[in-house]
Amino acid sequence: SEDDNKSEDYLFKIVLIGDSAVGKSNLLARFARDEFYPNSKSTIGVEFQTQKMDINGKEIKAQIWDTAGQERFRAVTSAYYRGAVGALLVYDISRRQTFHSIGRWLNELHTHSDMNVVTILVGNKSDLKDIREVSTAEGKALAEAQGLFFMETSALDSSNVAAAFETVVKEIY
Ligand code: GTP
Ligand code: MG
Repeated sequence: SEDDNKSEDYLFKIVLIGDSAVGKSNLLARFARDEFYPNSKSTIGVEFQTQKMDINGKEIKAQIWDTAGQERFRAVTSAYYRGAVGALLVYDISRRQTFHSIGRWLNELHTHSDMNVVTILVGNKSDLKDIREVSTAEGKALAEAQGLFFMETSALDSSNVAAAFETVVKEIY
């Protein structure tokens, strides 16, 4: 129908990147299906979900791609990034090592995709306050230095999950 065609005018590919176990797959599960897996396994290869979003009264479809943080489980890098217009660059606020890796992920993103891909730095697992290793100020500072949006999220308690995806889609749109 005409309506179907209209909705296909806005299909945005968004990629999730970041170290293994930072919570990429759970951010997607929470956003797309309102689900959370306390014992999820590492992603193998590539998965994606298409999520309808309402942005300023327009229906937008976000095609969100998720792959493994671990090199040995990853799919072909260039294919993963091809056509992406948005990216969520995820670290775990309770593991500093995952924050240190952000520079490497940013390099890979810039090598394989358009320089102006809309990117948000996401500090996930904000519910783990007691074992936090990366402060909110540090996350903010890195995002500012790199010209990225920034948000702390929790796939476990849902906080800011939709907001993080919406920030990217609104900016693309
Ligand atoms: P790879 O697929 O290996 O790259 O990992 P991933 O980034 O997809 O991580 P995944 O979503 O599989 O989550 C890893 C672990 O962290 C799982 O045990 C999740 O339950 C847990 N987890 C994910 N998000 C959160 C969160 O916001 N808070 C807490 N406390 N745990 C989380
Ligand atoms: Mg995963």
